[in-house]
Amino acid sequence: MIQYVSYKDETQLETIMSLIDQELSEPYSIFTYRYFITLWPDLCFMAFDGDNCVGTIVCKMGQHRNTFRGYIAMLVVIKPYRGKGIATELVTRCIQVMHDSGCDEVTLEAEVTNKGALALYGNLGFIRAKRLHRYYLNGVDAFRLKLLFPRPPDPNNLFGLAGVGHDVDHGHVHHDCTHHQHHEDQEQCAGNEHPHVGHTHHHPRWEGDNS
Ligand SMILES: CC(C)(COP(=O)(O)OP(=O)(O)OC[C@H]1O[C@@H](n2cnc3c(N)ncnc32)[C@H](O)[C@@H]1OP(=O)(O)O)[C@@H](O)C(=O)NCCC(=O)NCCS
Repeated sequence: MIQYVSYKDETQLETIMSLIDQELSEPYSIFTYRYFITLWPDLCFMAFDGDNCVGTIVCKMGQHRNTFRGYIAMLVVIKPYRGKGIATELVTRCIQVMHDSGCDEVTLEAEVTNKGALALYGNLGFIRAKRLHRYYLNGVDAFRLKLLFPRPPDPNNLFGLAGVGHDVDHGHVHHDCTHHQHHEDQEQCAGNEHPHVGHTHHHPRWEGDNS
């Protein structure tokens, strides 16, 4: 049986780094890992089969212009354990923490060629908000994926006009230190794609929960 644990201390850092370094195309430095994991330890989970760590997720959250945003930085499940719902469970746990912490939305980037990740996030209700040209160091484009949490209507703004004319994706203010965010400042906006509503089912734990 797979056990899910949240990050406890630095003794787990080595395991997390080696898992991610094996599987993701982007190279990350120890400073990047530390940035995420020490600042948001409750947004890092590991999946264990016995003593063997078989998957992990690393995220953060914070103010991004006029939204409080969760961000999924890294997600990996090792090959023999794929297709068993482990990534879905890791992502779901992080999304739950983000939702409970008051996030308005969750974002991440995925390679446009990463069918598995795109399907997984599509199933969880993420939409394709934007295509980022040559976003990764390997030259591949990315999709920025976004999950919006339902919120109760604002009684002071019955016409829902907040944020009109305000594209939250064109920000220049951030405090990230990965390649990704470095790109974000310079990104060539390929225009907002037609949101691809790829989800076929939603996750009941946060859907419709407007608290
Ligand atoms: C992407 C990844 C994390 C998925 O992990 P996983 O534990 O196998 O995912 P899940 O079992 O939770 O999959 C959930 C759903 O995602 C979709 N999915 C996952 N992998 C898929 C694949 N290779 N092809 C097509 N769909 C896939 C399926 O719809 C699946 O649901 P189903 O099994 O009911 O059909 C894993 O393949 C991985 O670590 N890849 C390398 C690293 C990576 O790409 N990380 C994501 C970066 S954005």
